[in-house]
Amino acid sequence: MISISHVLCLFISLYPVLAAVVENDTGSGYKSDDSILLNSGSSEDAVDADGRRWAGDRNDKYRLFSGNSAPARAVFQDPSLPSQVPYMSGRIFTSESTYKLSVSGKSRHYVRLHFYPASYNGLDPADAFFDVSAAGGKLTLLRNFSACATAKALTQAYIVREFYLPPSPDGILQLTFTPSRGNKSSYAFVNGIEVFPAPDISAGSTPSLVGFSDQTVDVGSSSAMQTMYRLNVGGQYVPPVNDSAGLDRTWYDDSPYIFGAAFGVTYSADGNVTVSYPDSTSKYAAPLDVYTTARSMGPDPRVNMNTNLTWVFQVDGGFMYVVRFHFCELQMSKINQRVFTIYVNNQTAEAAADVIGWASSPGVPVHRDYAAFVADKAGVDEELWVALHPSAASKPEYYDAVLNGLEIFKLNDTAGNLAGPNPSPSAMLAASEEEQAEAPTPQFGSTGSGRTNVIGGAAGGTAAVGLVFAICIAVYNRKKRVEGSSSGSGGSGWLPIYERGNSRSTISGKSSIGASSNLSSIAASLCRHFSIAEIKQATKNFDESLVIGVGGFGKVYRGGVDGGATKVAIKRSNPSSEQGVHEFQTEIEMLSKLRHRHLVSLIGYCEENGEMILVYDYMAYGTLREHLYKSNKPSLAWKQRLEICIGAARGLHYLHTGSKYPIIHRDVKTTNILLDDKWVAKVSDFGLSKTGPSNMDQTHVSTVVKGSFGYLDPEYFRRQQLTEKSDVYSFGVVLFEVICARPALNPSLPKEQVSLADWALLCRRKGTLEDIVDPALKGKVNPECLDKFAATAEKCLSDHGVDRPSMGDVLWNLESALQLQETADQGGRPRANPENEGDHRGPDIADATAIIDNTDDSHGTGESDGGAVFSQLVHPKGR
Ligand SMILES: *[C@@H]1O[C@H](CO)[C@@H](O)[C@H](O)[C@H]1NC(C)=O
Ligand SMILES: *[C@@H]1O[C@H](CO)[C@@H](O)[C@H](O)[C@H]1NC(C)=O
Ligand SMILES: *[C@@H]1O[C@H](CO)[C@@H](O)[C@H](O)[C@H]1NC(C)=O
Ligand SMILES: *[C@@H]1O[C@H](CO)[C@@H](O)[C@H](O)[C@H]1NC(C)=O
Ligand SMILES: *[C@@H]1O[C@H](CO)[C@@H](O)[C@H](O)[C@H]1NC(C)=O
Ligand SMILES: *[C@@H]1O[C@H](CO)[C@@H](O)[C@H](O)[C@H]1NC(C)=O
Ligand SMILES: *[C@@H]1O[C@H](CO)[C@@H](O)[C@H](O)[C@H]1NC(C)=O
Ligand SMILES: *[C@@H]1O[C@H](CO)[C@@H](O)[C@H](O)[C@H]1NC(C)=O
Ligand SMILES: *[C@@H]1O[C@H](CO)[C@@H](O)[C@H](O)[C@H]1NC(C)=O
Repeated sequence: MISISHVLCLFISLYPVLAAVVENDTGSGYKSDDSILLNSGSSEDAVDADGRRWAGDRNDKYRLFSGNSAPARAVFQDPSLPSQVPYMSGRIFTSESTYKLSVSGKSRHYVRLHFYPASYNGLDPADAFFDVSAAGGKLTLLRNFSACATAKALTQAYIVREFYLPPSPDGILQLTFTPSRGNKSSYAFVNGIEVFPAPDISAGSTPSLVGFSDQTVDVGSSSAMQTMYRLNVGGQYVPPVNDSAGLDRTWYDDSPYIFGAAFGVTYSADGNVTVSYPDSTSKYAAPLDVYTTARSMGPDPRVNMNTNLTWVFQVDGGFMYVVRFHFCELQMSKINQRVFTIYVNNQTAEAAADVIGWASSPGVPVHRDYAAFVADKAGVDEELWVALHPSAASKPEYYDAVLNGLEIFKLNDTAGNLAGPNPSPSAMLAASEEEQAEAPTPQFGSTGSGRTNVIGGAAGGTAAVGLVFAICIAVYNRKKRVEGSSSGSGGSGWLPIYERGNSRSTISGKSSIGASSNLSSIAASLCRHFSIAEIKQATKNFDESLVIGVGGFGKVYRGGVDGGATKVAIKRSNPSSEQGVHEFQTEIEMLSKLRHRHLVSLIGYCEENGEMILVYDYMAYGTLREHLYKSNKPSLAWKQRLEICIGAARGLHYLHTGSKYPIIHRDVKTTNILLDDKWVAKVSDFGLSKTGPSNMDQTHVSTVVKGSFGYLDPEYFRRQQLTEKSDVYSFGVVLFEVICARPALNPSLPKEQVSLADWALLCRRKGTLEDIVDPALKGKVNPECLDKFAATAEKCLSDHGVDRPSMGDVLWNLESALQLQETADQGGRPRANPENEGDHRGPDIADATAIIDNTDDSHGTGESDGGAVFSQLVHPKGR
């Protein structure tokens, strides 16, 4: 609340003085009086969702000149917009127009441009191509920019670009918007402009150029930068209002950018260390929130010596980048306790970084800058790599490395240009379309290639794309997966793989894999150990004809164990994929503890002869999706669909409530709901977040971002905080998918129909949902049942997590929907014998595993599952 009133005061003091800015010249003065939040296209001042006040842009005040410009309002409000202000109003420019803003002539400024590509005044958003320049045209910020294409490629509703501009000596910051020439219908627009005076980023340090000893890069007082990434490493999303320096910067979680499986561990300052700034200017580097959390490699020196803690970022080629590392030692107190090497783009940037050595005591923030040039390689997605590794040469007390925050800035080229190309949306959407078209798609989690974890949007990224990036990653991963599984049967035999994948930079510990496994005793007792001989027998010595899928991690075979009596899916890690032992063991421990009728089970493992093999339940009927659309399978009856939804809901409910800590699935979708030979729904690919480096005592996790196009919680989008309610959202999409029998995302449809979630909600509001119900169900669904079902799905899709039901509530509602249907079917008499009665857990698993911990009691059925659907109807004693 402090920040809100602060911003309010700020604005009130700002408004009359726009033309005559006061500056405190005594050195540390970056007075907030100089900051401007401009709600373009609106004549009214307004407050955004964070309580920040945006000024209306009236022509006289800001002197828009020489322009054909017009204010406009967006017709449609995308649910993922974080706030109506400033996005719902915009200013349209049909010829070159300039904003002239009075600012301090001495200081540099952060300028953030907000774009929401929507239809304004009847114009097509796809027609907007424009340049934005500053400093009277000397600096090009954006060139032939298409907000629409960029947003589409990033699957984001809005775009924020942040620039760091040199001082304007005349005290006027000019931003010129020019519609691209060559197309008459082209126009420019902007929704919001933020201007914040900022300290000189390069003051006191000239970043050394990595790979060239003794070369430094002079940022130069007339150079501009674009913020590419700004990450709170090992910590959470920091919203603009929490940026303590009053610069309204946004800091994102770093985990989506981590390469490989070596995520390290995260921690935050405990009571023993007080984090405080050494002097009054250092607070402008980063807020304390950034310094009080960190990511280190972990406690095991042997593992650390064999790995790098690596982040990979997509950038535009042909530019110099300045990479700023923020450190604050929270655990060590002496020099040479923790010393590490910093690599930027595979070159040594700092051979022996010792945070205490730099800061002289714990809790003191420091930052270091390094520069790297990223060449423009045509047709290649340019990347910037950042890696940390213990510095053995320094013989530190601990072989470890640590980082608190990271920023990456792009420096303008000699022509004053900062603009990169528009991302090509086609690659991303094609990936999605390809995946949609590929029915059914074998699922193998992510591929084994760590790079897919970090390569996402084709766009160079902006300050605000952190999360979006992650979504693209999901798409990209899927594309890879489809490619990688070309030899999969594509049919039913699919299997659930919990694949933390991304293994290239994991422990290259092949030598330590052997018969003497170090699996924790609990894991060993919970699931079965197979000998390699048994596995070979089950797979006919890894017969290629039994391969049901291939991924980066290796191959998946169909097979039978116990003399062929138990059908299983066998995942054999490719010995060259270097899947870490640790990963492998975590996976086993994790999966073996999760036992539930509606979760796909791990039956056992084999760790022998350097092989790492996992044995899973075989799911005869494949994925739910392949029974809904785009396959030639007969369509499922309504009641069957309801029962499958109930089963899946039960599995998720168990994940959320069944163990000590809630487990968030993070990738709920119809391809992760599998069907066994008795049509029992089982959730697969679960538990990913649990093993993330998150603090489970938080109410949400803000960690490894994962999710699929079309299913992603918009709140997660905005806040980067994951709760069980994110799964509820995705499940709502699944419910609509089940009833409409169409993909969650179908880019070939008209815009308003592309996203099933949006479209179904719209239809529901208009009362036309019936029109989009699967034709195969027409006339077969009891209207009350349909209404109950759709109301449940709608609730799940509530914009805010708090408004969504719990999985338990969803379950209860689906069960009452089923009851409504059955009552209708049977002329009012509830059916006493559900279809899948007697469908108890098959002997397969019971035989194969030592323990089946079927804790499906959390919602009070008290029954083994066969009749639970019904029994709960009779005793709906809640959830
Ligand atoms: C400028 O800032 C300094 C330190 O924050 C303060 O002592 C001084 O009074 C300020 N001067 C003006 C004119 O605001
Ligand atoms: C102008 O842009 C529109 C929409 O992008 C396109 O349909 C049209 O062909 C373009 N015209 C020219 C002359 O390039
Ligand atoms: C702007 O980009 C569009 C689409 O990427 C392209 O068709 C057009 O030729 C570009 N215009 C200019 C002036 O570069
Ligand atoms: C922002 O700061 C407020 C007040 O310190 C705190 O309650 C809130 O949790 C912070 N938000 C985030 C996302 O860190
Ligand atoms: C904090 O200090 C106390 C007393 O010195 C010590 O017992 C405790 O282990 C310390 N905590 C951490 C996390 O270092
Ligand atoms: C760094 O090295 C890795 C392999 O070790 C390679 O895949 C990557 O492309 C390199 N990055 C750069 C920027 O050269
Ligand atoms: C860590 O990264 C550096 C630079 O890319 C590379 O030379 C080194 O081999 C890597 N070490 C490990 C263990 O991957
Ligand atoms: C950035 O652009 C400005 C203005 O065109 C120019 O003076 C400066 O030299 C450029 N910076 C670099 C590093 O090339
Ligand atoms: C396995 O455990 C033993 C004893 O706990 C330990 O000495 C050995 O180093 C461990 N091996 C691996 C590969 O971690």
